Amino acid sequence: MRNGPRWHPMRDAAALEDEAVARISHAAAEALARQGRFRIALAGGNTPRNVYRKLVGLRTDWSRWAVYFGDERCVPVNDEQRNDRMARETLLDRLPVPAGAVHRIPAEQGAADAARAYGRTLVEVDLFDLVLLGLGEDGHTASLFPGHDRGDAPGSPDVLAVFDAPKPPPERVSMSAARLSRARRVLFLVAGASKRDAVRQWRAGEDIPAASIRGVEGVDVLVEAALLQDWSNRPRRE
Ligand code: 6PG
Repeated sequence: MRNGPRWHPMRDAAALEDEAVARISHAAAEALARQGRFRIALAGGNTPRNVYRKLVGLRTDWSRWAVYFGDERCVPVNDEQRNDRMARETLLDRLPVPAGAVHRIPAEQGAADAARAYGRTLVEVDLFDLVLLGLGEDGHTASLFPGHDRGDAPGSPDVLAVFDAPKPPPERVSMSAARLSRARRVLFLVAGASKRDAVRQWRAGEDIPAASIRGVEGVDVLVEAALLQDWSNRPRRE
């Protein structure tokens, strides 16, 4: 039985955000002490917004952070749908992270060209120290969707071009499951009633895209406790 993720029920969204900040802080301190660099891949979507806002106050050496993105939507630069715009507004534009240390995905070039370009960018990264990810209602993560290539086979490309994503916009660029798994730690942030089914599927061992992500030190899921309730109330076999 392959090792599943470690589930961490959180009282509410605020508690989840605080725990996420604490874990990011710990991962950064450990990486900076070990190697003098902290390489993090940021999650997109809405769940991480307040986590990024709360990170602004973190006491760390921002000059030694290298920031990457797990996925990006193929819309114009500064479009409000852009994951890098969300990260800049909530966090990056408020920090002394060197401009050259923020590695955005050039998704405005179109999925195929951007995937090739970002694949070249990632050659320099052996292991991420921390990968942050969200969970979609259908079990997707980053832009790896059910029924689509998720790049989890050995030798898969680091970055995938996505053209028919069920979550708009349809054209996206995503790190592959294999690339997202080349990380010391993987931390999922899961909040919102709409994620209940995806959480149930994941915990039931169903092969959703999020379940494809590994990490050298395993996968941790910070999840609103309410999303586990159905599971815990399930009648137990005597
Ligand atoms: C994206 C994200 C996506 C997101 C989930 C959860 O670009 O859409 O990478 O994988 O993390 O869909 O989104 P919410 O946090 O908004 O629920």
